[in-house]
Amino acid sequence: MSLTPAFLDELRARTSLSALVGKTVKLTRAGREMKGCCPFHNEKTPSFYVNDDKGFYHCFGCSAHGDAIRWMTDHQGLPFIDAVKELAAAAGLDMPEQDARAAQRAERAKSLHDVMQAAADFFTQQLGGIEGATARALLERRGVSAATAQAFGFGYSPDSRGRLRAALKDFGDAMLIEAGLLIQVDGKEPYDRFRGRLMIPIRDPRGRVIAFGGRIIGEGEPKYLNSPDTPLFDKGRTLYNLERAAPAARKTDRLFVVEGYMDAIALAQGGVGEVVAPLGTALTEHQLERLWRVVDVPILCLDGDGAGQKAAIRAAHRALPMLAPGRSLAFVTLPDGQDPDDLMRAKGKPAFEALVREAEPLVDRLWKHELAAEPLNTPEQRAGLKRRLADLAGSIADTSVKSEYIAEFRHRFDEQFARTRQPFQQRQPFYPIAQRKPGQKWTPPLPPVTEDARRLRAAGGIDPILSKAVVAGLLRHPAEIARHMEVLGSLKLADGALGRLFEAVVEVALADTRAAPLDSGRLVTILAQSGFDTIAHDLLRADAMPYSFTRADADANQAREDLDEAIAILVTRPEVDAALAEATSAMMERFTDEAFQRQVALVNEQRALDQRLANLVQANEDARALGLEDD
Ligand code: UTP
Ligand code: MN
Repeated sequence: MSLTPAFLDELRARTSLSALVGKTVKLTRAGREMKGCCPFHNEKTPSFYVNDDKGFYHCFGCSAHGDAIRWMTDHQGLPFIDAVKELAAAAGLDMPEQDARAAQRAERAKSLHDVMQAAADFFTQQLGGIEGATARALLERRGVSAATAQAFGFGYSPDSRGRLRAALKDFGDAMLIEAGLLIQVDGKEPYDRFRGRLMIPIRDPRGRVIAFGGRIIGEGEPKYLNSPDTPLFDKGRTLYNLERAAPAARKTDRLFVVEGYMDAIALAQGGVGEVVAPLGTALTEHQLERLWRVVDVPILCLDGDGAGQKAAIRAAHRALPMLAPGRSLAFVTLPDGQDPDDLMRAKGKPAFEALVREAEPLVDRLWKHELAAEPLNTPEQRAGLKRRLADLAGSIADTSVKSEYIAEFRHRFDEQFARTRQPFQQRQPFYPIAQRKPGQKWTPPLPPVTEDARRLRAAGGIDPILSKAVVAGLLRHPAEIARHMEVLGSLKLADGALGRLFEAVVEVALADTRAAPLDSGRLVTILAQSGFDTIAHDLLRADAMPYSFTRADADANQAREDLDEAIAILVTRPEVDAALAEATSAMMERFTDEAFQRQVALVNEQRALDQRLANLVQANEDARALGLEDD
């Protein structure tokens, strides 16, 4: 039975979502939408909206989101197909009928299966016979045991154009051709496709032979010859060894993907049975789906060489649109020029398991690949990287995975560049202290009203706790003030005593005309003259705050770096808050997927900022713990 997108669209169109949801959730009208208390989380004030025009529901509280079918699966707990059936019945739609041709196809497939099994039997028989000697020698040379050869059904196709045809003549040429076992060109005499090869049967998940791979015994082209696509065999949908690997994988909760059949067989012989191989092509979407039906995170084992790495990144890109919560890929890189077969023969299972412990998650692989793809020395190049990362994340269909990727890439980007680039140092300071001669009269210009500052005010200010820490940091490290003058000037810090202290600190730093750098003691002395002594001393009582830059005994470089980061967070946070407020109100006005995704992305940006702040505290704690151990 096939449920076409057109059928599902029709089903959605004929279903009144608010009526459906309204059966269990009390909804009231709110403009063009209906709202109620969200059934997916506990709440007292309604933030759950149902939009009948769009056929979507959405919760602003917990981000639950979906259409009528999703409602039936997520809220009513029905399997997808039952959800569709129930909605179809309610809407008076007939479920699509299984067509008569499919039944015919099934009948035909049955006899094709018989042909394939007969061929497999013929090949194994040949492997044991006189002519099979060269193939047996190859197996021995490759260290394939008799038990493995039997378990995997190895065989041999005699080096002749008509032996298989003769052996299976009861099936008739037409069927042998359809099974891909005979080749017929222009109505001429049909002949055996596989000649003089070591034969490896390829099975479907139910263990039935659907195709063969044949490896040449000596040298020659092609090294591997596969069955053509037939009614039984679709190369792009088949994974070699899945019939054995799937049960094994469900026990170990891992599933490996290797490049070739011989790799899969070598691993299985060495005790790693949960392994499959595509058939000489890049992983297709169908194959990825199959893998994910077995485990959440299949592990791709690819060669360390250029081709293997290209294949890895190709698989990564193909997987992105298909990711879902919990569902990903991981990558094991083999030593250059070795495939798993070579590795198993040379060093055995422990060596393989050691590589597996180093498996890289998908996000790492993508990040590293993009970081290495182009130079990153100029702002334009870095912006290019940002764009590429955004495109990658943008290709993820699942909104929650997408927003996690956006946040993760942003975080990594910030980590990568925020600390090494030291942007404030390279920039011309707002107030050029070094260029002034002592005694020269200088009136500081008013700080420019930047876009940041404008938005800051719109968003209703900045984090009072963090700004207190930053002021304390500036008091302790006055030399840093000049570097940050531009940003600090645009910040309207908290009102009240702290705000006044902040302005005084900046003013003192600006007005200070001595040649020697302003130190903490002198700054506090000057501030005391204006009555700031109590609050300044208060802020300098270090232990109240968990940052390196508020401590007296912290490493100076660490403190300076952390202070940079704290100021960056202090400035960015209100911008993100303002943008989020804007996005949310836009969304309340009109729900679009775009607005929704923007909202999700901004929420994640907020989270990323919180994480960066938490990292500062953690870094300080770590440093402190190390310091204690030194004592
Ligand atoms: P490799 O050339 O890496 O072969 O191709 P291998 O598996 O290491 O084979 P051995 O060890 O030399 O016997 C990897 C896979 O690509 C497909 C096969 O599936 C093979 O296992 N392939 C390769 C083909 O389909 N045709 C070819 O001619 C070569
Ligand atoms: Mn090999």
